[in-house]
Amino acid sequence: MSVHKEIKKVTTHVLQEMKRGGEKISMLTAYDYTMAKIVDHAGIDVILVGDSASNVMAGHETTLPITLDQMIYHASSVVRAVDRALIIVDLPFGTYQGNSKEALNSAIRIMKESGAHAVKLEGGKEITESIQRILTAGIPVMGHLGLTPQSIYKFGTYNVRAKEEAEAQKLIEDAHALEKAGCFAIVLEKIPAKLAEQVAKELAIPVIGIGAGGGVDGQVLVFHDMVGLTHEFNPRFLRRYLNLYEEINTAVGQYIKDVKSKDFPNAGEQY
Ligand code: KIV
Repeated sequence: MSVHKEIKKVTTHVLQEMKRGGEKISMLTAYDYTMAKIVDHAGIDVILVGDSASNVMAGHETTLPITLDQMIYHASSVVRAVDRALIIVDLPFGTYQGNSKEALNSAIRIMKESGAHAVKLEGGKEITESIQRILTAGIPVMGHLGLTPQSIYKFGTYNVRAKEEAEAQKLIEDAHALEKAGCFAIVLEKIPAKLAEQVAKELAIPVIGIGAGGGVDGQVLVFHDMVGLTHEFNPRFLRRYLNLYEEINTAVGQYIKDVKSKDFPNAGEQY
């Protein structure tokens, strides 16, 4: 049971208290006003305006094409809906890797133009200078290690990362570097559960997992996957709580029948 249900606004400090108190952190993606309102009212701790919007909302094969302007549009819609959750926004591909000044400018645009509370960046040691520069402007930063979808063309596949000793060791070092640089939390995506648990134990900041087992401090899923709106994506780590694809399909099928048969609208559904 949540000891933080009564919290009016979730902050980065609340998340750190949750870790210290052993309370798991719940996090889901949202990209629009309507879904964000439902997710926030249900009591989620953190909403991620993920660059997975590139796949889920825009139908791109990867997260690479989404732009800063598009992320700001999604984030602004979410901000208008949310009363309680902490809202974190992904810095999209190509808006922070160039240098730390570019990273700072992108983070400032997100915070200023959307009203979100924090940003998330993918990468380890190589981006710590950018993280530190963003922090100097007072913007909280979340890290992201393991399967980092913006590097999909380097990895070649969406398979589990850090199964080999050398990559696991690098991930541990990167996680410590992100904590030292000042990240308030990190996401670990699709890595062995044992490794994720070790990282969560070694770090004082919260570690949120996706496909990283139960030994971490919280879980994140893509909302559209979790409610079954997407139905062709079936990784082992995904638990579907609804099958909305089927339910909406049936509802739309019934609506079409009712229109064609002139059953809709009936006498009570007109003026
Ligand atoms: O973009 C996203 O949805 C993410 C989560 C998978 C962590 O980064």
